[in-house]
Amino acid sequence: MSKSTSAMTLSSDFKDKLSEGVNTCWKSPANIALVKYWGKKGHQIPANPSLSFSLDEAYTITRIHAKLNPNANGPKVSFTFEGEKNPAFASKIEQFLNDLLPHLEYLPHVYLEIESGNNFPHSAGIASSASAMSALALSLLCIEQQLLEEQLDDNSFYRKASLIARLGSGSACRSVYAGFSMWGKHDDFKDSSDNYAIPIDFKPGSLFENIHDTILLVDQNPKKVSSRVGHQLMDNHPFAKARYDQAVTNLSKMRSCLIENDWDTFASITETEALSLHAMMMSSSPGYILMHPNTLKIVEHLVEKRKQNHVNVCYTLDAGPNLHLLYPEEENDKVALIISELTQYCSDGKVIYDTIGKGPENKHCK
Ligand code: DP6
Repeated sequence: MSKSTSAMTLSSDFKDKLSEGVNTCWKSPANIALVKYWGKKGHQIPANPSLSFSLDEAYTITRIHAKLNPNANGPKVSFTFEGEKNPAFASKIEQFLNDLLPHLEYLPHVYLEIESGNNFPHSAGIASSASAMSALALSLLCIEQQLLEEQLDDNSFYRKASLIARLGSGSACRSVYAGFSMWGKHDDFKDSSDNYAIPIDFKPGSLFENIHDTILLVDQNPKKVSSRVGHQLMDNHPFAKARYDQAVTNLSKMRSCLIENDWDTFASITETEALSLHAMMMSSSPGYILMHPNTLKIVEHLVEKRKQNHVNVCYTLDAGPNLHLLYPEEENDKVALIISELTQYCSDGKVIYDTIGKGPENKHCK
C-alpha cells in the first residue's frame, strides 16, 4: 500500500497534542456529474468511471475538535448538524470511522466533536452527501496531519482525502478538487484509480472555464430512492454491461471535447448520460420513474428555445426530477431569458444559480 493510502506513523507526542485538543475546519463543495457513477462492484468501488465539476456556492462546512480518549477505545463521536445535536447521525459516523481504522491510526485514541452545516437547503436538488463526506474526510485527514511524524505532500493529502471520502459516499471523492475531476480507472486518464478521484490532467477549453450550473427545482420533496438502493439495482440489471461500456466511451469523448472546446459534443454526451441514468432506473426491477411531468416540459421547452435562439445550453439530471442547466459564462444573458420562461414549471418558481468552483478550503491546516 502506498503512503497516500496507508496509515502514517504518529508522532511520539501525539497524545500530548490530543490532550491539549486539536482543531480543524474545512469547507467543501457539492459537485455535478457529467459522466455518471451508477453501479458498484464490491465496497464503494465504482462499476464505471465518472467525471464531474465542483460547484462554488453549494458547500458544507465541518469543524472538528479532537480530544484524547485515554482508554483508546475510540473513535467516539458527538455530532451537531446546523446547531442541533444528532445522536443518530453520530453513531452512523462512528460506524464509518470504524471502516477508516486501517487508514487513520489515531482514530482509536480520540473523542471527536463534529459540527457541520450546509449553505444550501436540504431540498435544493443538490446531493449533500458529496459535500458533507468530502468536508468530513478533509477534516479527519487534517487532524492526522497535526499528529504525524512526517507530513503528506499535497498530492498524497488530496488523494488520501478522496479515498476516505469515497468510503463515505462515492461521489464525494470527486469533491476534494477544484474544477473538473474524475474517478475510476480509465485508460485515457493517467493515474486514474477506482480508489480515489484525480483532477483532470489538462486545461479545459474556454467555454468550460467558468461554466454555469443553474438548478431548476421541479420538486422539493425527498428523493424516492436513495443512491445506495439505486446503485444496488444495477447489480442484476439486464443492461448493466452496456451501460458501463457506454460510460467508458463517453468519458473518452468527454475528455476530447473539453480539450477541443467543443460545446455541441459536450452537450450531447452530458444529456445522453443524464437520460441513460434515468433509463437504468426505469428499466430496473422494480423500476422507478424519477422525473416529474414538469422535468419533461422543461426539457422540451429548452430544446426548442436553444435551437431557435442558437444558445449553448444543455441539461443534466441527478437521480431525481430537478434539472441542472449548464452553459458557458458568455451565454448568461440569453439563458436568463429562457430561464425566466421555465420558472413556471419550478416548485415555487425556485432556481439556484451556481458555477464551477475553486474546490475545498481549510481554516487551520494546509
Ligand atoms: C447520480 O455518491 O450518492 O449522483 O456511493 O452510495 O453514496 P454512494 O452514492 P452517491 O451516488 C451518486 C450518483 C449520482 C451520479 C454521480 O454523482 O456520479
